[in-house]
Amino acid sequence: MRILSFSADGFKNLKNISLSPSEGVNIVHGENAQGKTNLIEAIWILSGAKSFRGTKEKDMVAFDGDFARLSLTLFDNEREQTVEAVLSKNPKERKILLNGVKLRYMTQLFGALKCVVFTPEDLELSKGSPENRRAFIDLCISQIKPAYSRTVAKYENVLLQRNTLLKNIAQGISKPDDLDVWDEQMARLGAYISVLKYQYTKKLAIFARRLYDEISKGKEQLDLKYLSTVFSDLEGKEDWSGELSGEYLSLLRKNRQEDIRVGFTLAGVHRDDVLVTVNGASAKDFGSQGQNRSSALSMKLGQAFILNEETKDMPVILLDDVLSELDRSRREFIISKLKGMQIFITCCEPVSRLRGKRFEMKAGSILTK
Ligand SMILES: Nc1ncnc2c1ncn2[C@@H]1O[C@H](COP(=O)(O)OP(=O)(O)O)[C@@H](O)[C@H]1O
Ligand SMILES: [Mg+2]
Repeated sequence: MRILSFSADGFKNLKNISLSPSEGVNIVHGENAQGKTNLIEAIWILSGAKSFRGTKEKDMVAFDGDFARLSLTLFDNEREQTVEAVLSKNPKERKILLNGVKLRYMTQLFGALKCVVFTPEDLELSKGSPENRRAFIDLCISQIKPAYSRTVAKYENVLLQRNTLLKNIAQGISKPDDLDVWDEQMARLGAYISVLKYQYTKKLAIFARRLYDEISKGKEQLDLKYLSTVFSDLEGKEDWSGELSGEYLSLLRKNRQEDIRVGFTLAGVHRDDVLVTVNGASAKDFGSQGQNRSSALSMKLGQAFILNEETKDMPVILLDDVLSELDRSRREFIISKLKGMQIFITCCEPVSRLRGKRFEMKAGSILTK
């Protein structure tokens, strides 16, 4: 997959940007706070994902503007596609177009532009909070199976409703029986999500282990294991709507009194995690910084390789300020693994050793030579 052209105007500080990137390495350099990460973020948003910096849509529009206009054309080995978005501080005025066809939600863009973004925060993937790992796996699945993001959104909505109800029951405003309808929905959605996340993690483990083996030169072994708070063993189980929904529902029933007491849902996919181990010991608890970085890189590169395998197309890689964070051997490793893919790299210094098309960013614009 290649981005053939990209333009942005009014997205944060970006002004009148119009690029024809190279099909290989693209290097965006410039001083701090000029808009390099904003440019990466703007490309990323057009892949259907949420901001990797947690920026809300209204805050993507320039402080002094009303609209952010983004568009790109891509070639995905089969055809050319166009993605356009006009974001507004007023969500009613938002416009999203895929190949000229209007869409309602940004997440409907999943499936067109496939990207993998690496940020300095991603280097904390194995060490950081379970929430980051949950979001990471959710995103990886959404990129392959676009409808999945809506399932997750539905689950989150049911969870919110159920938690509100639990509090109302504790205050005597609602009855415990009112939970029944929510429990059933939660069990079905949760069982489906569990199966997909288990299977994805299993696949990612294979890719990541191989990559880690290479980074550590065969000295250490990485393992990933999906930790479900509902199921003791998901191996070989796919019947989410039957047996697994039933098991999920029984657990919700079993936890009901305790859930009412604490005022939230104690067990469910929203509490699941991925256990990352190096040589059998939890990387988060016992790993060195180097082991955690190698784990995180292996997981992120694994994401790119699985996307390639599932979609028969190489994703576009966005490396935001991440190379300068890594030592030379990890830097060379990651670049060597990404050969053949289109890459956008941001950095403060024009990296002299890397070959690629260079763009200088200043005050939200690309300087033309
Ligand atoms: N909504 C916005 N409107 C205008 N400018 C913004 C907005 N949000 C962030 N910025 C500006 O973007 C700049 C940071 O851009 P960034 O891409 O993070 O820089 P860097 O080149 O260091 O990666 C800051 O100057 C910030 O004020
Ligand atoms: Mg930056």
